[in-house]
Order: sequence, then C-alpha cells, then structure tokens
Amino acid sequence: MEMTDEMRKVIDNSIAHVATSSRDGKPNVVPVGLIRTISDRELLIVDVLFRKTRRNLEENPQIAIAVEALEEGRAYQLKGKAKVSTHGELYEKAFEIMREQDKVREERASAWKQKRPGLAGGFDKLIEAHHRLRPKAVVLVEVEEIYSTIPRGMGGE
Ligand SMILES: Cc1cc2nc3c(=O)[nH]c(=O)nc-3n(C[C@H](O)[C@H](O)[C@H](O)COP(=O)(O)O)c2cc1C
Repeated sequence: MEMTDEMRKVIDNSIAHVATSSRDGKPNVVPVGLIRTISDRELLIVDVLFRKTRRNLEENPQIAIAVEALEEGRAYQLKGKAKVSTHGELYEKAFEIMREQDKVREERASAWKQKRPGLAGGFDKLIEAHHRLRPKAVVLVEVEEIYSTIPRGMGGE
C-alpha cells in the first residue's frame, strides 16, 4: 500500500513508536525520532541505540509503527517487513538523517532555552551527547499495510 504525501509528512516529523517482536512473540515498543520515508512504499529508521529492537528484527522482520500529528487530526499505524543494513548506500543515508535531526533538535532546544533559561546547560549537554552518537545500522521498512488510528466519526476515514 502507498503512503500519501500527507502520511509521509506525519511520519517524517513524528516521534514514532516502533513495535517489534521476538521469534516467540514477545512484543517490544520504543520511541524513535530518526525515521524518514524514502518513497511511497519505503521508510528508513536509524539504529543508534537499539538493543531488543535490533535483536527482534534479526529474529523476526515484522514491524509495526505508530505516528501522530494530532494538531492536524492525523494518526496512522503502518505494518511491514524490515531489513537491517550495516553498510552500503542506505547506511550512508543514516548519517544524512542524523544531521537533519540534529538541526531540528537544535532549533527546538533554542526555543526551549528562551522559555526556560535555567535549563540551557541541560539542553547543551543533550545536544553534545547526540553529536557523539553514530549509526550502528539502518532499518529499511517495506510498508505493506496502513491504517488511520483516528476513530471513525472523530475525523478518521
Ligand atoms: C524521544 C526518543 C527518540 C528516540 N529515537 C531513537 C532513534 O531514532 N534511534 C534509536 O536507535 N533509538 C532511539 N531512541 C532510543 C530507543 O527508544 C530505545 O531506548 C532503545 O532502542 C533501547 O531499547 P530496546 O532495547 O527496547 O531496543 C529514542 C528514545 C527517545 C526517548
């Protein structure tokens, strides 16, 4: 199933919740900021800190992802199959995604610093810590199913 431009915008700007499961079906869900669509059927997730998520994907490629832009009345669940790469063209793309996300984070932090100057040191530490992160792998997701999670009658289709 194809992602529309509107769906892609929500995914590209969300903190997604990414669910995986072990071979024997134990679920795991984590928040993920480094997520970008690369076509109307594919998206990339950057693995910088995954542990169980990575282990699960190596045992079982099934993945489910929840994203929301509630201020726009949009929220989706995607399901698909994931493939982990630790080198090659897609892996190089992980560095690009991280750089883009660094900029977004810095913009958000500078807005917060103006609101809460007392927390400025904390934000600087957080940004520094993110600069030290390196992609361990990139996860290519082939999207197979898409659902709106906005209930019917509340704006959902
Ligand atoms: C807001 C937020 C965004 C995150 N984004 C990412 C990410 O893009 N990539 C990543 O590898 N870990 C990210 N993490 C860390 C994971 O959510 C999680 O802590 C990590 O995968 C370890 O959990 P696991 O052992 O269940 O995989 C993020 C955490 C938070 C709180």
